[in-house]
Order: sequence, then C-alpha cells, then structure tokens
Amino acid sequence: MPDQATSLERIPTVIVGDHDELGCLVACRIAELMRTRGRAGRRTVLGLATGSTPIGVYRELIRMHREEGLSFAQVVTFNLDEYYPMDPGSVHSYHRFMWENLFSLLDIAPDNVHMLRGDVRREQVGEECRRYEDAIRAAGGIDLQLLGIGRTGHIGFNEPGSGIESRTRLITLDLVTRKDAAADFFGEDSVPREAVTMGVGTILEAREIVILATGEHKAHIVSRAVEGDVDHEVAATFLQRHAATTFYIDTAAGARLTRVATPWLLGPVEWTPQRTVNAVTWLSHETEKAILKLTQHDYAERVEDEAVE
Ligand code: F6R
Repeated sequence: MPDQATSLERIPTVIVGDHDELGCLVACRIAELMRTRGRAGRRTVLGLATGSTPIGVYRELIRMHREEGLSFAQVVTFNLDEYYPMDPGSVHSYHRFMWENLFSLLDIAPDNVHMLRGDVRREQVGEECRRYEDAIRAAGGIDLQLLGIGRTGHIGFNEPGSGIESRTRLITLDLVTRKDAAADFFGEDSVPREAVTMGVGTILEAREIVILATGEHKAHIVSRAVEGDVDHEVAATFLQRHAATTFYIDTAAGARLTRVATPWLLGPVEWTPQRTVNAVTWLSHETEKAILKLTQHDYAERVEDEAVE
C-alpha cells in the first residue's frame, strides 16, 4: 500500500514495494485517463519516456491491451527525447526502443506516434524542435506526461543549468548521464555527447505529470527533487511548481526521504529496535560525535524534542 505523504515533501510522492507494483499502478492511471477521455469521444495525448524505469508500465499497458482490450487507436504520443546524432534504425536509438518495447505491441496508429529526430542535419535541428512543439500544440497539448529522473536530476535530457522556461532544443549531455548510458553503448566514448529534448517549460505544460524512480542509486536525487529547494541545477525540482505532478517510487528509491530515513524529525514515532539503531547512528553523524560520546542533551535536542512535537 502507498505510504502517507508528509509535510517536507513538495511533490506528492507515493512509495510502492517494487518495480512491478509501480508499473501496475501507473499503467492503471494511464488506462483510466484513456477510458475517461474515450467515453467523452476524446483522444488521449501521452508524453512518454525511454529508459529502464518505465518498462514495467509499458509491460502492463501491453498486457491490458492484450487481455482487457485496452485500445490505443485514439492515443497520440510524444516522446521526450532522442540522442543526437542518432539514426532511428540504430539499436541505440530511442525510436527503436519505443517501437520494440511498446508501439509495435499495441494498436496505435504509426501517424499518431511522434518522436524527435536525431538524424537531421545540425542546421535543421532548430526547425525540427519548433516543428515538434507545434505538433504538441496542434494535438491539443499533453494530457499526461510520463517521466524518469536521471542521477543529475534531469527530466527528459534537461541537464543541470536548464531553465524553467526552456523549450525543445539540442543539449549537451552531462558526464554523469553519459557514464550511466555507457553500458548500453559498450563504453562511455561511444555515448553521443548531445541529445534533442523537450524543454522544462514544454514538460510543465502537460496537464498531469507522473514521474518514476526505482532503485537505491536514485535515492539521493529523489530526496533532492522532492524535499530540496527549486534550483536550475536540478531540473526535476521545477516539478514542485506544477499543480498535478505525482512521484511514484519504490522503497529503495525512497530510502533517503525524511519520512523513511529520519522519521523522528517529523513527529512522534514508534521506537522499534531497528529505528533506535538508525536514530543513534544518524545522531552520531549529525553531531560528529562517537556513539558512546553522545549525551542526554544530544538526544533531547535532536531526537526527542523533534519527536514529541
Ligand atoms: C528518457 C529520459 C531520461 C530518463 C532518465 C532515467 O527518455 O528522458 O530522463 O528517464 O535518464 O533513465 P532510467 O529510467 O534508465 O534510469
């Protein structure tokens, strides 16, 4: 069951047990939206992401299509990004990823699928990005945007420094992002240095945003994005300014949120033996004192007072 949200969290956040549960929950939300809009005779415009995190959502959508007759005939999609330069037929392209992992397994009309092109000449990239923004507008805007988060805090490929008003454009990939992609490209040197991506401003225009994160390697950036200040060094923090964003994470990715890591800072807690150990270790770090040097005063100041409030 999802945990409760807490006051330090600036983006509503739902923690689920694992990747599969997350996939089902988010796919259900997408299906519900499609059905509601379908009943009103309206198409659904989805913004989609690549990467390992949304795979469970796509798997569940495919299952719903096969077993429950969920139709994508009235769905229009826009993907967030593509490497540059990149041939759409390459095994590394996001085009190929999306067709292999989702589109070819659904009844979506190929004309309704939109992806940024990584194979246009450099002098045509600006025009390609404008064309993409126009197509999103012509489709009536994005109803639901699905996002992952990179370890740099990027959404799409909006790396540190991307502004809240940034639009679809060519961007230089951060070194951390290129390192994370190295395994897929059989070495860091083969990872493209650039990508085309929807901008933060483009993403924030979606009517609803669902951002996903799984795994302990995302725990730090998740807590930064959810509980930290809005800052252009971490593009995901801009989602705090969006009225209908929900973060769905698994327990590993949620490990550094205050409600999980240091819940005694939020109010009274039940002191289980494990939690007591965690609190003592935390207090030792906070005060920079060895555990045996901690005093009653340290406990009262930092743990008990917070917890009694
Ligand atoms: C992908 C994208 C990126 C990824 C992010 C997380 O289209 O826009 O922002 O969502 O890099 O990637 P994974 O899910 O592979 O950890």
